[in-house]
This record gives sequence, C-alpha cells and structure tokens, in this order.
Amino acid sequence: MQNDRVGYLAAKGFDTELRDELERHGVHVNAIRGRLLLADGYHPAAWAQNIWLDPVFLPVSSIGNAVKALKAIQRNWHLHPTGNYRRAALIEQQLPPVKHKAMTFGEPAPQSPLGSWTLWESDMLLASAACSSPFPDGEVRFVEDKANPPSRAYLKLWEVFTVTGVKPDKGDLCIDLGASPGGWTWVLASLGAHVFSIDKSPLELSVASMDNVDFCQGSGFGLDPETVGQADWLFSDMACYPDRLLRTVLRWLEHGAALNYVCTIKLQGKTDHDIVQSLGEIPGSKLMHLSCNKHELTWINLAQWRSRSQSGIDAARPLRSIA
Ligand SMILES: C[S@@+](CC[C@H](N)C(=O)[O-])C[C@H]1O[C@@H](n2cnc3c(N)ncnc32)[C@H](O)[C@@H]1O
Repeated sequence: MQNDRVGYLAAKGFDTELRDELERHGVHVNAIRGRLLLADGYHPAAWAQNIWLDPVFLPVSSIGNAVKALKAIQRNWHLHPTGNYRRAALIEQQLPPVKHKAMTFGEPAPQSPLGSWTLWESDMLLASAACSSPFPDGEVRFVEDKANPPSRAYLKLWEVFTVTGVKPDKGDLCIDLGASPGGWTWVLASLGAHVFSIDKSPLELSVASMDNVDFCQGSGFGLDPETVGQADWLFSDMACYPDRLLRTVLRWLEHGAALNYVCTIKLQGKTDHDIVQSLGEIPGSKLMHLSCNKHELTWINLAQWRSRSQSGIDAARPLRSIA
C-alpha cells in the first residue's frame, strides 16, 4: 500500500457498527461523508460493504479534467455520490459506460477491477482503483427466482457461493440448522447436495419433498456433533443469540464434525462486537455483511482457508483473491 489511507463504505444503516468495529481494531476514522468513512489503516471490516484500498485525492479544475484524471488510471469506475451531486453526475456521464447486469446464479464474479470514486469537494476527487469487491458499492444483485424458493433467504447463499467461488459439490452432505421455510435447503438441494435440515417449524412442502432432502423437526442445538461423523458443510440461519452460535460452532470444530461453515450471526439491540470478534478470530474465518443481510453478519469458515491460515497465508485477504 502506498499510504495508510483506506476508505470504508458502510453497509446501509450500519455506519455506527463499522466505526465501532474499526476503532476497536485500532483503525482511526478521520473523515466521514455519508456512509463513506476515511481512516488510517486496513482492517478487513465486516460492516464494510466495500473497502477502497489506496484511495487518492486528485485536485480537478473542470469536469473534463476530472474525466481525464479517472480515465488515465483505468477504464471501469463506479460513482458513489457523497455530495456535489450535479457536478459528479456530469463527470459520470462522460466516463466509459460500465454495464452492471444482475447476475445469474452460477456465473463467476466479475474479474475486471472496478474502481470507486466520489467528488469529495467540488474541485477534489477521491478515487480508489482497487476495491475489495468487484460489484458496485459491494452490492450483489441476482436475477431472482420468484417461483421456487419459499423465502428470499436463498439470496444469501447465492451471494456467499458467488463471492467465495466455493460451493457444495453434488453428493456433499450439508446440514442446515434453522432451515424453515426452506430457502437455503432449496439452494443446497438444487446443487445436488444431500441436505439434512432441522428446524422447530416445518419446511415448505415443495422443499421437504425434494429427493435429496431429509427433515427433522426439532432444535438445531439438539444435534450432537459427536454423533454426526463428518459433514461436508454446516449451515446455520437459526434465530439464536450470537454467544450460543459461537459455542455451537466451537463444538463442531472441536469434533471436526464439518469441513465448511456458513452461519448467520443474528444481532439484536446493541451489536455484540466481542462475540463477532471471537468468531472472526477462528482460523480460516471471514465475516461479511451480505447484500441482503440486515442487522446480522455472515460467518464463513472454509476448510481450504483454515489450511491456508495454518500455512501463514492470510485468509482475510479480499475474497476476490482467495477464490
Ligand atoms: C431466518 S429463519 C431461517 C430461514 C431459512 N434459512 C430459509 O432459507 O428459509 C430462522 C429460523 O430459525 C429457526 N430456529 C430458531 N431457533 C431454532 C433452534 N433452536 N433450532 C432450530 N431452528 C431454530 C426458526 O424456527 C426459523 O425458522
């Protein structure tokens, strides 16, 4: 990195969480425009929807001059407006067009870099050519399936599998805790995995009757990892307290009962940063705020990241370079 400056774009409505997260990791926020926070130092912040690496301030004397300055760096840019809206829009109009089609699930995430810029002052651009996400403002949009999945929660798994580039293989054993009404189970079964789902409430019939789905009505905490052997994946979207989730995944990890994990951390009231940090510190972990997460984060822990972190490679690098 050429300087210590990093831009963090908070997930919508969660700038306070982002600021708290950065400060507790010793990253000092020194300027804020809307939900864009400028800070000294890098932390792979969970509450950031996108991270602007090495952003530079560029003085610009005219609209044409601003366009020239951005084009001289690279072709593809996304405007994140924070003020000076009319002038910023005029600059944007003269930049090469970048198409942002909704993704079809199964397509790989875009590989070409997408820079982010804003008009910090009327005569000053802030621009980052290298962002953590290849999606505009880190928001992933899909062509939705409005017919088959019984809840929109399926979009969370589509996003996880797209941004990590890793998903269950055909025949993998997946355990889905807190599965009702069945959006996640539907995604996993549609990939050809064998899904064992648990919830206190029933699954939607259309999902429960899929060939490769077994359902058990009960508590996900009642499934003892000692008796499971080894599942390929453990998923949890259970509505539960974060400390209970932490204790549960630690037991599963201790018993080696699952290779890969994707779990939603449901936060209520004041964000419990201690528990979130404990989950993030488990080797091979990544915390993300997915595009359709609300006051929740997604904890991802993959076998291949655990082995990389054991070999000293940082599993928390931007996901684009991990997959
Ligand atoms: C957000 S919903 C899950 C949505 C689901 N992933 C989908 O894709 O349709 C949360 C679920 O957690 C379940 N839940 C809460 N406590 C649970 C427990 N102890 N064991 C199993 N399920 C639980 C609730 O019944 C509810 O269905």
